[in-house]
Amino acid sequence: LKPNQTPAEESKRNAALEAVKHVNNWSIVGLGSGSTAALAIEALGERVKHENLNILAIPSSYQAFQLAIEWRIPVTTLEEHPIIDITIDGADQITPELNLIKGNGAAQTREKVVAVATKLNIIIADETKKVKTLGENNQPVPIEVLPFALGLVKRKITELGGKPTLRETKGKVGPVISDNGNVIMDADFGTIINPAELQTKLKAIPGIIETGLFIDLTDIAYIGTPTGTERTEKQRK
Ligand code: 5RP
Repeated sequence: LKPNQTPAEESKRNAALEAVKHVNNWSIVGLGSGSTAALAIEALGERVKHENLNILAIPSSYQAFQLAIEWRIPVTTLEEHPIIDITIDGADQITPELNLIKGNGAAQTREKVVAVATKLNIIIADETKKVKTLGENNQPVPIEVLPFALGLVKRKITELGGKPTLRETKGKVGPVISDNGNVIMDADFGTIINPAELQTKLKAIPGIIETGLFIDLTDIAYIGTPTGTERTEKQRK
């Protein structure tokens, strides 16, 4: 246990510590993004340092890349290693079926590329991320959009019953620009009864690069509590 940790941090760290136990020597490891994934990168860094763990990492964002450098985890690229053994990432919402909404950190496109390239996807989160149905509690779906297509995408999302909002930055005026040079629309669809169908409809709109709906991509979830973790597994289709 680290000093001055809040119960929320403790929960996230417990999940992260459980997940990194799955990482074996000589693995290619996908690094997720966000505050929970950052704790897994730290824990991996500790294993690299103290256990001589030999791994090559593929970061899913500029944040994850910087953390890998900070923790001295060697990085590689998907071009060199198109198959990733294991990825550890966070989520904004997670259902009992292990479907997710991701993208609060605007990294969902690269996170999904990494997830699809991965053999074993592990999601880590605290209990606040657990939901019955995606989209509950006014959670929007983060959608990465080509700036040129913004007007069209906004109209099409509205036609699908969503309420789109352009994500604004903090610390600078104007929209959030993703690591890929695009903008983020947060689209509130209410509770999403059929997320796979919504994903197909959204991906059919030109200008939508990727959405934060992660359907049938997760193998194991560790939900951390201040005192332990709860594990859920799913056989992917
Ligand atoms: C970034 C993500 C994150 O994994 C997600 O937002 C969870 O972040 P945190 O662990 O900070 O709550 O999808 O795009």
